[in-house]
Amino acid sequence: MLQNEDLAQKLEAAIEYMRECLGGQKPDILLVLGSGLNHIAEAVNNPVLIPFNDVPHLCESTVEGHVGRFVFGEIGGKNVLVMQGRLHGYEGYTAQDVAFPVWFSHKLGAKALFTTNAAGSMVEGLAPGDFCVISDHINFTGRNPVAGAKVPEVGPRFFSMEDAYDAHFRATALSVAADLGIHAQEGVYLGLLGPSFETPAEIRAFASWGAATVAMSVCEEVIAARQVGMRVLGMSLISNYAAGLGPESLNETNFEQELARVFTIAGEKATLLVKGIIASMEL
Ligand code: HPA
Repeated sequence: MLQNEDLAQKLEAAIEYMRECLGGQKPDILLVLGSGLNHIAEAVNNPVLIPFNDVPHLCESTVEGHVGRFVFGEIGGKNVLVMQGRLHGYEGYTAQDVAFPVWFSHKLGAKALFTTNAAGSMVEGLAPGDFCVISDHINFTGRNPVAGAKVPEVGPRFFSMEDAYDAHFRATALSVAADLGIHAQEGVYLGLLGPSFETPAEIRAFASWGAATVAMSVCEEVIAARQVGMRVLGMSLISNYAAGLGPESLNETNFEQELARVFTIAGEKATLLVKGIIASMEL
């Protein structure tokens, strides 16, 4: 079977289930919470909780610290469907698996994707604890969720990835950060499949291409969102300096310690910032 051949039917089943759970309410925004950022879901008012496991054809999150459920409710006057935990290619999921919740959120009514993650910095101006608003991306995962059978019910096969990250949303994010006194700047994000961290030579190459940050998520979600015409905002919390640029080589233990440390210094700021941005986003 070609990749995506049964996508339309699978989406229908997921949408039907989600509609039942939401009881007629529609999301305005799909908010994806990355590593170390799952606590932001606590900002949701009147939450409806939907475990990933219960949604037909949706994969479960296997990453520690990713809760693996939707939290639907209100933030900043908007209906937000929060993914408390995300799906990654490095867990063994296909690009289509990763894109699946983006596609069905759009069918449920979401006009925008706000995707967040933890990322490594390749530039001096971005230190652990800082925020980077994604201005553009380099998809270096080697994968694309739209590759496969043509599925007109979902969207076109060929579409532009110019201006993938909405200029108005980016300006809003930077101005909300400035108002809150939180350091944020724009940068190009480079997405990889992982799960091994990069070599220093790779990081030097990526930096020379103009990328500021690197991590193992986001690109496939954003491609899926653009295919269906959702406007996108992406924001990374810098968790570490990328390979070869930090004080020690990255491994699972020190990466998680670094995430926890960054969370302690920036966790509250992240919640304030995301809430403020959502309240100010003009859809
Ligand atoms: N490399 C890849 N993925 C990451 C990093 C990194 O340095 N930091 C957070 N996610």
